[in-house]
Amino acid sequence: MPRSDHGPAWFALVAFVVAGAAPAYAVDGKALYAKCVACHGARGEGVAATGAPAIAGLDAPYLERQLQAFAGGARGAKPGDTFGATMRASATTLLASEADRKGVAAFVAGMPAPLPGTAAATNDNGRNYFNAICGACHGGKGQGNAALGAPRIAGQSVPYLSRQLAAFAGGTRGAQPADRYGAQMRAVTAMLPDAAAARDVIAYAASLRP
Ligand code: HEC
Ligand code: HEC
Repeated sequence: MPRSDHGPAWFALVAFVVAGAAPAYAVDGKALYAKCVACHGARGEGVAATGAPAIAGLDAPYLERQLQAFAGGARGAKPGDTFGATMRASATTLLASEADRKGVAAFVAGMPAPLPGTAAATNDNGRNYFNAICGACHGGKGQGNAALGAPRIAGQSVPYLSRQLAAFAGGTRGAQPADRYGAQMRAVTAMLPDAAAARDVIAYAASLRP
């Protein structure tokens, strides 16, 4: 049989697979976000009482990666990670598919960045560590750098940032073999010499206004 005879069948198979991969319904990111409001706030500004961080205006690939990590168990599945477990339950029950994760991520990325909350007192120690270490990836004003996969951390709450730094340091976050972005951040935590350095650099990051 001439090789070209396979052409149409091959094409039909690809067309079928592509059609099958598309969602059977139009994903409405705004409607999906309504399910997140109780914890993350109507403007995606974060709600201290729920432990849910500000997510408005974070870049879409970062948001999608985190939602996938929660859904797949790379984030939020370790014993003792109660806040992560809450979000993992939300990611698995409120979002049905990759299409949903993409749709809600696009909507949240398009929300105006929230007004930063009240920050802790800052000092030179925090600023120096930030400028020496963190700014290279997260940006000089903590605005984030999507090309490096480093999210905005400016204006995020102190309790949330401290918890994430501790999670990276302890391996609750970023320790999965395939998690190359998390691995970078995990390596960074070893550059902070002590608890005071961590506390001060977090206070400084939270105080930044991009
Ligand atoms: C029941 C409360 C709750 C609901 C509902 C909820 N979240 Fe969360 N979410 C959290 C908590 C708590 C965290 C912080 C987890 C941690 O500390 O690691 C979080 C973290 C996140 C993060 C990680 C942010 C970052 O900077 O890494 C994203 C993204 C996120 N949520 C998106 C969503 C979306 C989208 C929805 C709606 C589909 C949603 N969440 C619904 C509680 C919730
Ligand atoms: C080599 C690049 C790099 C450097 C330097 C770096 N980070 Fe990160 N950071 C990242 C990446 C990449 C992520 C996203 C990890 C992921 O996808 O889970 C991240 C994530 C974070 C998060 C989690 C944010 C969230 O919304 O959940 C915090 C907090 C953080 N970094 C703080 C810091 C601090 C503080 C410093 C300086 C001491 C620092 N980072 C230096 C690359 C870096």
